[in-house]
Amino acid sequence: MRKKIVAGNWKMNKSLQEGLELAKGLDKALKGKAVNCDVIIGTPFIHLASVVEAIDTNRIGVAAQNCADKESGAYTGEVSASMVASTGAKYVILGHSERRAYYGETPEILKEKVKLALANGLTPIFCIGEVLEEREANKHFDVVKAQLKASLFELSAEDFAKIVLAYEPVWAIGTGKTATPAQAQEMHAFIRETLIAKYGKEIADDTSILYGGSVNAGNAKELFSNVDVDGGLIGGASLGVDKFLPIVEAF
Ligand code: 13P
Repeated sequence: MRKKIVAGNWKMNKSLQEGLELAKGLDKALKGKAVNCDVIIGTPFIHLASVVEAIDTNRIGVAAQNCADKESGAYTGEVSASMVASTGAKYVILGHSERRAYYGETPEILKEKVKLALANGLTPIFCIGEVLEEREANKHFDVVKAQLKASLFELSAEDFAKIVLAYEPVWAIGTGKTATPAQAQEMHAFIRETLIAKYGKEIADDTSILYGGSVNAGNAKELFSNVDVDGGLIGGASLGVDKFLPIVEAF
């Protein structure tokens, strides 16, 4: 059975102290609550170890937002997958459109990052999604398929089964312009079809495909009610317990 997941991506927000406060606040709010999904928070690198210490990681999984495409060595300023794993974080967001667009992360680089994440026991939350011009030109399905193919489809079935996908149409990120539930479902179903063709029905059925892009307390329930939408990757609305908790509870 595939997992339902609500994951927060804090992006480059929150000091260490503010991050700890948010993580602890969320942990407290979830304590004793029966929720119907896994909850994950993606914090900046420097928060990881302290956040893991401060919360019950059985209740909230912790994710990095990136890792290096090299194992170790003279790569000033980089953080490796093994370093991320050594903090106790269990997930890593990879391929976010902001990393692709602003930091030149190519499909080849992402392929290396995915491999290293898996080799170090981390679960990649791998992001894919088209920009507005691609959707308007009706190329969104091709773009998403190409992104999957270029970075993930050399993985063995056993390794692919460890991946969580996040469909994040770039035009919906931070814009307040959410994909309609029908648009999300249509793309998620297409992604699952693509996975069936590549890895077979069992693996495709077990892959969690999250939707990301302006998800909030008001639209989460409708988005998550689609059969192929297995949860959300939440940016802005993950930065406060009051905004994030209702999204978790939308399941
Ligand atoms: P917003 O929820 O702020 O649109 O961000 C989505 C996102 O990029 C999550 O990774």
